[in-house]
Amino acid sequence: MRTHSRPVLAANWKMNLGPVEASAFLDGFLSRYAPRDDRTVILFPSALVLSTVRDGTRPRPDIRLGVQNVSTEEKGAFTGENSAAQAAGAGASFVLVGHSERRHVFGETDAQVAQKCARVVEHGLVPVLCVGETIEQRERGETGEVVLHQLRAGVSMLDHRAIRDMIVAYEPVWAIGTGRTATPQDASDVHLVLRAALAGLVGEDARGIPILYGGSVNAKNAASLLAVHEVDGLLVGGASLDPVQWAEICES
Ligand code: PGA
Repeated sequence: MRTHSRPVLAANWKMNLGPVEASAFLDGFLSRYAPRDDRTVILFPSALVLSTVRDGTRPRPDIRLGVQNVSTEEKGAFTGENSAAQAAGAGASFVLVGHSERRHVFGETDAQVAQKCARVVEHGLVPVLCVGETIEQRERGETGEVVLHQLRAGVSMLDHRAIRDMIVAYEPVWAIGTGRTATPQDASDVHLVLRAALAGLVGEDARGIPILYGGSVNAKNAASLLAVHEVDGLLVGGASLDPVQWAEICES
């Protein structure tokens, strides 16, 4: 069903790499990965490191940038938060929304995820909406129900056009940072469910929405996951911190 032929390789650095380390990363990565027009590479550094990464990738407009989170609020007295407007002004084009660490460590609700997606779109940025089930939910056979609920709630404030232009990431919580990867079959099954739900929302336009897989992706398993017909790209945490491994994944 996929027509989106250009895989998206996204690096979620989480709360790792300061400005000095990020510059060293870029030296290592950019010398190994030459621009390619058959894929999209997106880096999600810490918001505090975004300007360093933006400056370091200036000669490489093929490398796109994003932030890992934004506030539900537009602006004002929200100490410690970053707004979608600030992210846009600082050079981000994409925003991770509803990552499982935000949901499970910080208690982010579906309503907040929906609000964040709306803010992101209002400021011309692309939301990368993350969905995924816990191991308990999977064992109870609730995977489809959980990811569909998260998807529908996440896009509930978006119009057809914003949904058509977004990115979705399926990241089973039990696979994140655990070394346990979903099998290509697991990924395929869930991606098909998500694609069908997107088709229910935007019809034919659902074909162009990239659905990424994330969870313990590394240079060894990247190619087999990308080979899954329904997998349009990868969202990578730990393995994206190493410039050599990340370059290998980007060449997968
Ligand atoms: P991981 O993280 O690759 O370290 O499992 C993926 C993610 O959380 O986006």
